[in-house]
Amino acid sequence: MPHNSSGWWRTAAIYQVYVRSFADGDGDGTGDLAGVRARLPYLASLGVEALWFTPWYVSPLADGGYDVTDYRAIDPAFGTLDEAEKLISEARQLGLRTIVDVVPNHVSDEHPWFRAALAAPPGSPERDLFHFREGRGPDGELPPNEWRSEFGGPAWSRTTTPEGKPGQWYLHLFASGQPDLNWAHPRVREEHEDILRFWFERGAAGIRIDSAALLAKDPDLPDFEPGRGPHPYVDRDELHDVYRSWRAVADAYGGVLIGELWLPDVERFARYLRADELHTAFNFDTLSRPWDPDQLRESIDATLAAHSGVGAPATWVLANHDVTRTVTRYGREETGFAFAAKRFGTPTDLELGTRRARAAALLTLALPGAVYLYQGEELGLPEADIPRDRITDPMHARSGGVDPGRDGCRVPLPWEGIRPPYGFGGADTWLPQPADWARYTAERQEGEPESMLSLYRSALHLRRGRAERAADELTWFDAGPGVLAFSRPDGLVCVVNLSAGPVPLPAHTAVLLSSGPLDDAGLLPQDTAAWLQG
Ligand code: GLC
Repeated sequence: MPHNSSGWWRTAAIYQVYVRSFADGDGDGTGDLAGVRARLPYLASLGVEALWFTPWYVSPLADGGYDVTDYRAIDPAFGTLDEAEKLISEARQLGLRTIVDVVPNHVSDEHPWFRAALAAPPGSPERDLFHFREGRGPDGELPPNEWRSEFGGPAWSRTTTPEGKPGQWYLHLFASGQPDLNWAHPRVREEHEDILRFWFERGAAGIRIDSAALLAKDPDLPDFEPGRGPHPYVDRDELHDVYRSWRAVADAYGGVLIGELWLPDVERFARYLRADELHTAFNFDTLSRPWDPDQLRESIDATLAAHSGVGAPATWVLANHDVTRTVTRYGREETGFAFAAKRFGTPTDLELGTRRARAAALLTLALPGAVYLYQGEELGLPEADIPRDRITDPMHARSGGVDPGRDGCRVPLPWEGIRPPYGFGGADTWLPQPADWARYTAERQEGEPESMLSLYRSALHLRRGRAERAADELTWFDAGPGVLAFSRPDGLVCVVNLSAGPVPLPAHTAVLLSSGPLDDAGLLPQDTAAWLQG
């Protein structure tokens, strides 16, 4: 079946709700579904068309909820399944579709399957749902192979036998509390297809697939040797069969599948978007690129070319709950994102970063395809410095304390007022909010035409009004060195000035919106973008 050429997901602006930090309805310092329900009018007025909720399931929070104990129940800290169903239908009434986050690569170490596996002997059917192996070395004291966790350290942890002796090892590509499932096992596949049905039946319009490229493993679990055949666990061909059967499930409900695929090779990436596989996937290439006109243009062109080959819409992502906040990233010397490069105390010029982030927002919102917006980006929130003793992200500890981790972009949102918790809910927020965030509250920005919130709201509304008329194409034109300029078939012209000085605007009949004021001579200043009617 060809991709539906008119699906909402082809052009939608999708808002990522990080539930734990969005809004706290019951005052315990942790965001929850009641908090989201109370703020739905805010989301509707922003002009987005869908909400993606990061995992809301029962979880011991070894990795912020990406360690799931029960995929069919809401964590009591967030609410109940009944509330989730109400939230989904209330959102829909406001024109907001719901995307649920499913985590197939691994479960929590408190998941009943893993508990049963630990209680069962080596070689048992219970252990076969995971990757248990004997260790190497005379006493099995070395991990079965050299694979490294994505969060640092070995990808294996050793179990203890009922007699208290060291036992087998189990694989976890992330934290030790996230044992990897064995995707060669039919029961693992059946279970996840059933989880998809469960959420589609409750009104989900889409599923975001966590770590979508990592599920399949080489059964021999060999060490990775670059250049020697396929990677033992990244982007393996067997995965396409898994996603073809997921597509059949999704199609039965008119649901959409969105893959989280961090793959450098755009051709390999596009294979997941063939007509009988995933509908879309996050494009992370653009956020990894520096604030540089040639780099950004190259990324946009490569992304569009790869997608048009398979008839899938491109997606644009400036930020999410795993990466440095945009205003901070663009205010640093290294403006492209890399997991390995995160450090404490990196000098940041927030004024510069904010100017660029505003221009980048207009750039991405003008491109053909869907856009993902991470909560707080519309408020221009910077990355927060979290005191070391309050950091919860396993990336921090597993890096030996070198990497600050991802908590700095996960701080509870400032809604109103002049001091913490800024209307978030309970005062004892699970991560501390900076003392100087009064200027970022939604309430304060609401009344300021120059605020980030006003910019996003105007851009999202303009974009939504045009999306139906805009075809997938984009035409670049020359507006001078260091300037990105393109037009869309509906007459929208986007121009972004990444050169060292002001530039004249290209021919236009109206200026629809700009990320900052034009100068006295009517020129577009450095690090500023404008939307024009051609
Ligand atoms: C994805 C999530 C990230 C999580 C990881 C393991 O990359 O976005 O937050 O830590 O998967 O589930």
